[in-house]
Amino acid sequence: MTASIPRLGFGTWGRTGADGIAAILYALETGYRHLDTAQSYGTEASVGEAMRQSRLKREEIFVTTKIKVDNLDPGKLLPSLRKSLETIGIDQVDLTLIHWPPPYDRIEPEVYLEQIAEAQAMGLTRMIGVSNFTIALLEKAGALLGRGAIATNQIELNPLFQNQKIASYCKEHDILVTCYQPVAQRRMGDVEQMRAIAVRHEATVEQVALAYELSKGYAAIPTSSKPERIRSNWLAHKLNLTAADVEAIDALPQSSRAIDPPGAPLWD
Ligand SMILES: NC(=O)c1ccc[n+]([C@@H]2O[C@H](COP(=O)([O-])OP(=O)(O)OC[C@H]3O[C@@H](n4cnc5c(N)ncnc54)[C@H](OP(=O)(O)O)[C@@H]3O)[C@@H](O)[C@H]2O)c1
Repeated sequence: MTASIPRLGFGTWGRTGADGIAAILYALETGYRHLDTAQSYGTEASVGEAMRQSRLKREEIFVTTKIKVDNLDPGKLLPSLRKSLETIGIDQVDLTLIHWPPPYDRIEPEVYLEQIAEAQAMGLTRMIGVSNFTIALLEKAGALLGRGAIATNQIELNPLFQNQKIASYCKEHDILVTCYQPVAQRRMGDVEQMRAIAVRHEATVEQVALAYELSKGYAAIPTSSKPERIRSNWLAHKLNLTAADVEAIDALPQSSRAIDPPGAPLWD
């Protein structure tokens, strides 16, 4: 099921306004076929506008959106997703994610997981998934919806924060890992091992990070406001790292999580 999720996508956080539409359109023209938006980003309309301006067919572009925490209460998810479809200007999204588990476990997983499964059954979304889920929450989702129901878990992951435990769990349970902050928001330039690998491949450290994530079988959704970076990040799919490169990155010292809001789940 996860086979049809394009592994290198374009993140749209921050891609608002006319510049945002231009960046998303440029990403589509460059070759990206997966756009990652969310109800909380204010970019759903920009995604729809860029899709229309690209003149690509609807079925050529994979669209992910995410349900914001305010819309997880009983009876709220479906209307909010219908609103997202209207804002984007499409009949169905390809993938809908629960953006964050409710802070402090305010709502039982059954409440929002049953609603997202209903959205899929009604054809509002082709696939469903989650984001920022822990092993404990994925276990609950699996018990409730069955193995294979959750297509992906979108989590913070890059060479400096490899999030090994949850990534291994996902792999064992056929849940695609989608990496957010995949180029670590420019924090990799200081890492000597990353620079050395980049120099050897005549690549950027960001390309090395993306190639590393793809080599692990993950999806990655980098974003940038700059055409040259949108393009160079895209070209990372052509970069083949050696087994030694991957081993060297595996062994990098790990930093702490960058995104950890109040009420976040008890991370693995
Ligand atoms: N599910 C979640 O909770 C969650 C959380 C965070 C993000 N996301 C998703 O993941 C996407 C990516 O995450 P992110 O935006 O936080 O992090 P990111 O893609 O790792 O980093 C983006 C930042 O790095 C810079 N950058 C990008 N490519 C570069 C390059 N080749 N060289 C130098 N700098 C580069 C960009 O600046 P310039 O614009 O100046 O190039 C931008 O500030 C988001 O857009 C969003 O769709 C999801």
